Amino acid sequence: VTRFVYATATTIDGFIADSDNSLDWLFAVDGGEESIADLGEFVSGVGVLVEGSTTYRWVLDQEDLLEKPEKWQEFYGDKATYVFSSRSDLPLVPGADIRVVSGSVVDHLDAIRQAAGEKDVWLMGGGDLVGQFYDAGALDEVRLSVAAVTLGAGAPLLPRRIESDRLRLTAVKQIGQFATLRYDVGRQVR
Ligand SMILES: NC(=O)c1ccc[n+]([C@@H]2O[C@H](COP(=O)([O-])OP(=O)(O)OC[C@H]3O[C@@H](n4cnc5c(N)ncnc54)[C@H](OP(=O)(O)O)[C@@H]3O)[C@@H](O)[C@H]2O)c1
Repeated sequence: VTRFVYATATTIDGFIADSDNSLDWLFAVDGGEESIADLGEFVSGVGVLVEGSTTYRWVLDQEDLLEKPEKWQEFYGDKATYVFSSRSDLPLVPGADIRVVSGSVVDHLDAIRQAAGEKDVWLMGGGDLVGQFYDAGALDEVRLSVAAVTLGAGAPLLPRRIESDRLRLTAVKQIGQFATLRYDVGRQVR
């Protein structure tokens, strides 16, 4: 059964990017590469990526993917990527399976599930888009790499109220200066 999993790095105070959409603060924290490598098994079970347009553009710019489109395959293989955006002029990486969609998440769930097949869906962020999946009943797990840093402001991790009876902590691990935490998100977990 396909699961919808939000996996991201975050600050202690719950931000996934600073106010300039930079992740430089994250790359400065010891253990980043190991904590990404630790996601390897999860990533191999992922069939579809989902992200908002700010995240997508950040990835394009960071890796210069419009100039070096072959790098997309290196990172993502042939996984389908759903980018949520209301814009019609979003630049697309040549040769990549990128599907730009907009509007209610509910309207896209069947297609996303179908594209994932037996595999999982990686909700990459941002936080509000993941919140929209939560609202639609499509958030099964949250996997956090909490970096030893605070920012005070920035892009929020998950701007929703999810009470403790919906969350169950299932795993805790230290990797360098990161605390990796996994939570199941359920309807009635107690
Ligand atoms: N720490 C990490 O590991 C990590 C992980 C992921 C992301 N990030 C960073 O976090 C930041 C997140 O940025 P963000 O909060 O702006 O979130 P985002 O989800 O990446 O982008 C938000 C944009 O997506 C589009 N969108 C969202 N929902 C939509 C819907 N239902 N229909 C149509 N379009 C929709 C809208 O843009 P338009 O309609 O204008 O296109 C919206 O402004 C980025 O800087 C990213 O690089 C960090």
